[in-house]
Amino acid sequence: MTTRQEIVEPHAAAACWRALTLLAEAVRGHGAPIRRCSLLIGDAPAVCLDSLTPPAGDGWRISLCLDGESASNGPPAGAGESRYRLDDLIVLRRLTDSTLPSDAAALLEIYLPYCMAPVHARRVRRSFTVSHFAQSLDGRIATDLGDSRWIGCTENLVHAHRMRALCDGILIGARTLRTDHPALTVRHAEGSDPIRIVVGGGVDVDIDCLARAGPGRILLIGEGKEPASPQVERLALPTENGRIGTTAILRELYRRDILSVYIEGGAATTSAFLAENNIDVLQLHISPLIIGPGISSFQKPAIRSVAESVRFDSHVYRSVGDGMLFVGRAAS
Ligand SMILES: NC(=O)c1ccc[n+]([C@@H]2O[C@H](COP(=O)([O-])OP(=O)(O)OC[C@H]3O[C@@H](n4cnc5c(N)ncnc54)[C@H](OP(=O)(O)O)[C@@H]3O)[C@@H](O)[C@H]2O)c1
Repeated sequence: MTTRQEIVEPHAAAACWRALTLLAEAVRGHGAPIRRCSLLIGDAPAVCLDSLTPPAGDGWRISLCLDGESASNGPPAGAGESRYRLDDLIVLRRLTDSTLPSDAAALLEIYLPYCMAPVHARRVRRSFTVSHFAQSLDGRIATDLGDSRWIGCTENLVHAHRMRALCDGILIGARTLRTDHPALTVRHAEGSDPIRIVVGGGVDVDIDCLARAGPGRILLIGEGKEPASPQVERLALPTENGRIGTTAILRELYRRDILSVYIEGGAATTSAFLAENNIDVLQLHISPLIIGPGISSFQKPAIRSVAESVRFDSHVYRSVGDGMLFVGRAAS
């Protein structure tokens, strides 16, 4: 006789990823605060938000308590149900044993927290941000000439595309667009493309490479002439000394229902968000290579003592391919 688990086990990781994308969509569409949720990981994944009854069907049932909600407040765990708890926005703890295969459990651990980004965005009334870089051991994201392909490994590329699929928007600075001509679409994971957002660039920005790469919406934030493509919307926001405040950017994106943004650099753009305390989660993929002179991950005014450094309230290191992923929440 074939058991339930034998039916779904070979597809556990794929089913888990589908359940996660479903969860991200459900949380996004759920206006009210969420205290707990349940997932069914199987051939027909399902999600229940704030319901005491877990979804029924074949597969693994996962219950999640959110920050501040005690795991013992809910009903007792049912047969085959595993309990997790999201302690802050990046640490997912397993509270009960799980029979979920380890590759699927790893996907939950890494990506489930980002499905909750809309909850956080609604609390602070601005888009939730996750920034990502692939950097060398000596802290470079590109050579002196701007070459950055590829500092990260294939597994890092898959990770970045999964993050794109979970976020409503992906944002880069104008110089990264000029140098890299990226597509900013989701190609190495299953999921839909985020809205592509470029900051700066004036009249000089070539948005066509993005328009050619995919039919989705593109937002160009900054002054300049109206773009020709109907896909592209230009959004002018107030500037100070030529710079647009990153809080104004995130409030405007939130107003447009873009609740989570994946910031993919470059250094000047990410540093502007960091300086205004507008990076919620920082992801740094550290690759085993040394570049020497090049573009540093962060541009910051000099500090006099180490005590003035940017610190992190919580952080984890994960092994990704031949590199390491640092994930941290900067202290405010
Ligand atoms: N390894 C990685 O993970 C990674 C990721 C991304 C990029 N990169 C590399 O990073 C390099 C580019 O980084 P970068 O630091 O030189 O440039 P960047 O951050 O990509 O772009 C900076 C430009 O974006 C515009 N901009 C950004 N924030 C703005 C704000 N708040 N207000 C107004 N304009 C704003 C400005 O454009 P204007 O001055 O033109 O208006 C600014 O000069 C490239 O070589 C790329 O390959 C590496």
